[in-house]
Amino acid sequence: MTHVFHRNPKQTMPVAVAGQGIELVDSTGRHYLDASGGAAVSCLGHGHPRVIAAIKAQLDTIAYAHTSFFTTEVSETLARTLAEAAPGDLDHVYFVSGGSEAVEAALKLARQYFVETSQPQRRHFIARRQSYHGNTLGALAIGGNAWRREPFLPLLVPAHHVSPCYAYRDQAGGETDTQYAQRLADELEAKILELGPETVAGFVAETVVGATAGAVPPVADYLKRIRAVCDKYGVLLILDEVMSGMGRTGYLFACEEDGVVPDIVTIAKGLGAGYQPIGAMLSTARIYDAIVGGSGFFQHGHTYIGHATACAAALAVQQTIAEEKLLDNVLARGEQLRARLREALGDHPNLGDVRGRGLFVGVEFVADRATKATLDPARKTHAALKRACVEHGLLVYPMGGTVDGIHGDHVLFAPPFICTAAQIDNIVDRFAQAVNTVLPA
Ligand SMILES: Cc1ncc(COP(=O)(O)O)c(C=O)c1O
Repeated sequence: MTHVFHRNPKQTMPVAVAGQGIELVDSTGRHYLDASGGAAVSCLGHGHPRVIAAIKAQLDTIAYAHTSFFTTEVSETLARTLAEAAPGDLDHVYFVSGGSEAVEAALKLARQYFVETSQPQRRHFIARRQSYHGNTLGALAIGGNAWRREPFLPLLVPAHHVSPCYAYRDQAGGETDTQYAQRLADELEAKILELGPETVAGFVAETVVGATAGAVPPVADYLKRIRAVCDKYGVLLILDEVMSGMGRTGYLFACEEDGVVPDIVTIAKGLGAGYQPIGAMLSTARIYDAIVGGSGFFQHGHTYIGHATACAAALAVQQTIAEEKLLDNVLARGEQLRARLREALGDHPNLGDVRGRGLFVGVEFVADRATKATLDPARKTHAALKRACVEHGLLVYPMGGTVDGIHGDHVLFAPPFICTAAQIDNIVDRFAQAVNTVLPA
């Protein structure tokens, strides 16, 4: 009998008792290779001595001080570190405790910005189908993940959705990346015009789509064209990098690779690498100045914003990534992971697509490679793959509903940035074995 209200109460979970490097250990002594960092969280792996030492030192200094009374050195240093690393003038960092909170803060900041700048009619948010922005009501409302939204629809504020940038399925044969990007930018523009440009507050998108569709990067130029449409109509561009940010793609901010600076960006997961719950929202000076020069403060806040111990963990994580130049490893190991997956499974009749950026890699499975027809959702192939991987001592992050919330199966890989070439080979060997048991070629 457990008194924990578990995520999946009908399932008996193994008990995690230890973790070192890219391995986790359960109470029966079984070892698992953590090839997804949980849900793209543990970017430094487990048991990292420098991060643990930083947390202990912070506890000995000041664990927590409420932000209505105090600031702390550690939160100031972390904010400065992030602002200096962020592209453009994303200079102001609002700390929260996770990804959903970061997205909620972003939506409220966008709305307050328009209230402060005498545009109170701007209230609509446009996002994309097949996206995930979190499970709190505001984040769920803008998210485009059909099954997660469905039971709660009567509670969700209205939001509007356009097509994702999903080249494997939606880029037409013969259509160039530029033409495809322009078609999607035109669709966004049409949606803004339909709603009335003066009523639209923001466009929200994951820079690289994570859990819902499996590491789907935008085609070249997509974000630049989206940025241009937003600028044309005074709509704020909010990029959600809760999963794809903080080095996961090989860039600290994933949008750097696209040469685009959003008005607001959300981060979490890899920020604290799982050592403490922490997320953040960064906003441009323009938005910050409008608020501070207007009513004077952002009408928001939670008890744990700017938590000193969480900031200490995140600061140690970010210093480690920078000093050890781990993003070079992310790029190299990411190339290797995609290449090895293509090598190991390239001839498999159910392998549809291998994609991603850096150590953010997705594998999509299909029933037929030529037509890209999906596997029967009733087979729950993604769940079977997860079980088979666990049997092979491998943790990955599979999901169904890749295409439309119901059809499609993919597996997401997000191994720690510290992983070695030999560990990548090991991950792929185990994965190929698991795939061949679930989907015999
Ligand atoms: C892109 C994105 N945004 C927001 C969230 C929500 O983050 P959290 O689960 O920390 O609330 C997630 C979580 O997976 C995510 O992937």
